[in-house]
Amino acid sequence: MGCSVVSELLEGYDLDRLTIATLASHSSLQIAHGAKKEGFSTLLVVTEDRVGFYGQFKHLVDYFIVVRRWSDLCSREVVEELRSRNSVFVPHGSFVEYVGMDCATGLSVPIFGLRSLFPIEADQHAKMELLRSAEIPTPTTYSLDSEIDGLAIVKLPGAKGGRGYFIASSRQEIAERLRALVDRGLVSDVSKVIIQEYLVGVTAYFHYFYSPVLERLEITGADIRYESDVDSLRRIPIEKLKEIGVEPTFTVVGNIPVVLRESLLPAVYSYGEKFVNKTKEVLPPGVVGPFCLEGVVDRDANIKIFEFSGRIVAGTNLYVNGSPYTYLYWDEPMSVGRRIAREIRLAVEKNRLSSVIT
Ligand SMILES: Nc1ncnc2c1ncn2[C@@H]1O[C@H](COP(=O)(O)OP(=O)(O)O)[C@@H](O)[C@H]1O
Ligand SMILES: [Mg+2]
Repeated sequence: MGCSVVSELLEGYDLDRLTIATLASHSSLQIAHGAKKEGFSTLLVVTEDRVGFYGQFKHLVDYFIVVRRWSDLCSREVVEELRSRNSVFVPHGSFVEYVGMDCATGLSVPIFGLRSLFPIEADQHAKMELLRSAEIPTPTTYSLDSEIDGLAIVKLPGAKGGRGYFIASSRQEIAERLRALVDRGLVSDVSKVIIQEYLVGVTAYFHYFYSPVLERLEITGADIRYESDVDSLRRIPIEKLKEIGVEPTFTVVGNIPVVLRESLLPAVYSYGEKFVNKTKEVLPPGVVGPFCLEGVVDRDANIKIFEFSGRIVAGTNLYVNGSPYTYLYWDEPMSVGRRIAREIRLAVEKNRLSSVIT
């Protein structure tokens, strides 16, 4: 989105009275909490069934907009109300999934972050291609007819949270299993399937924040996804699961904090820099604010990245009062939610709000 569109989005806005708005889900309480700390008004768009839960947090949320469906976010009434409160909308990990791509990319409210990244995030092939073109190490991608060297993880399109992914060791096995899934109607478009080298090592999810205002990249934390059933395999032999016909899934249940070995940090940082620079080049103005690289660290401390998120990830909820890294940058409790609000505040002070919204 070019500058002219950004200025249209901000038309009629009172920049001294901004409201930070998001959907009541994912990391919204952290975002609201951080916005309050930085002196902003806050607004949550919430569905009826969640009013009871989110209503407890009136000290964090100034305004609620209750909707029947998430996609009502893009209705004229909701957009008007958001605009009348000078809202800057923060897209979190559930945003595109809940409101749909057209609403997410077309929302007539300033968004903190890079809208043009949404469609790329939604396309597994485009996503991996962006990482590769940034020269970030990634697992090998196989095509349906290439021989598999070692193990491969097969990712089905639209399989939410790793449910339905499977691990295989040969081209024949993959072909057979995909055929069975197509026959059962569980996969419609085999060309959308991703076949990737299965990385042996431990998973780690690196959180970053790119500040256009300070022109600097910060590491804000790291987490481990706690995934059922794969993370239970130390409790039960996989053969026993196989006996009863259970294929372990990668369904996210929660997030576990991790502090990285300090000697890994320079490499982790350089991957983040590559990501920032590549997005600046191919999707100007480039990534804004929080993003996450998801990777596996092997026994020789090599790190490969198997996916990214261009928005705030739920793993940051671990650090509502700041992480070991944000404390080093800021010397005060600084969650990613607060960091977003701080960036917006700094941008307003320097008359540069248009450089953090799209
Ligand atoms: N190449 C890989 N090697 C090893 N494990 C992987 C690989 N790709 C994904 N995983 C595992 O599968 C999980 C889900 O995969 P991911 O690509 O992140 O899909 P999504 O988050 O969209 O469900 C990851 O969190 C990780 O545990
Ligand atoms: Mg993932």
